Amino acid sequence: MNIIIAPSLLASDHARFGEGAERAGRSGADWLHLDIMDGHFVPNITFGPQVVKAIRPLTKLFFDVHLMCSKPEILVEHFAKAGADEMIIHVELGEQIPSLIRQIKSLGKKVGLAVNPPTAIAAVEPYLEQIDLLLVMTVNPGFGGQEFIREGLPKIQQAASWRRDKALSYRISVDGGITNMTGADCARVGADTFVAGTSLFGARNLKFAVAKLRKSVNDAVSH
Ligand code: DX5
Ligand code: ZN
Repeated sequence: MNIIIAPSLLASDHARFGEGAERAGRSGADWLHLDIMDGHFVPNITFGPQVVKAIRPLTKLFFDVHLMCSKPEILVEHFAKAGADEMIIHVELGEQIPSLIRQIKSLGKKVGLAVNPPTAIAAVEPYLEQIDLLLVMTVNPGFGGQEFIREGLPKIQQAASWRRDKALSYRISVDGGITNMTGADCARVGADTFVAGTSLFGARNLKFAVAKLRKSVNDAVSH
């Protein structure tokens, strides 16, 4: 699986989302990760479909939209129209998952499923055949700049062994506290998609930081 580097716009200047998206587009990154928080599923609020629509023309990057929302069913159509390429929903929503997956697919978009640190990885197993990406959260969602939770590593390993055993092709993404070092740790156990906010947008040179993260994870898997 090729490596994807996805800077998270959450860590960019919130007075200048357009500039952040353009900078990410010029940085050599593969995707732009967009964190949508509703003040209910997580104790924070970010932005909605209008911001996504406004920045869509500014970059060709794939828009990876992470819905940390209690009622994604009322939002997915709006995000699809605004230019999302993939929408990630949380497995913690439980019985709503099958219909949300159907809804996102019917909009012609890719589907991701995220799992929070306190949730057992077994919760995602019933959906693996239906998803394009599995997102293992390595912090409790809601805020950027938190410390990487190492308990995510065995979950990534399990996700990778299911993928092999079941001959599936979903991506394995990690999100939260990803640096050159923790990214390499995740790559070693099977992650291929790396979301990073603070360590990329917080760097003096975004392009250099993206290249460095890519090299760290590539080196980790080739050694
Ligand atoms: C956390 C978000 C992350 C966040 C990661 O709730 O889902 O995408 O941007 O930020 P860092 O890389 O700073 O931990
Ligand atoms: Zn995220």
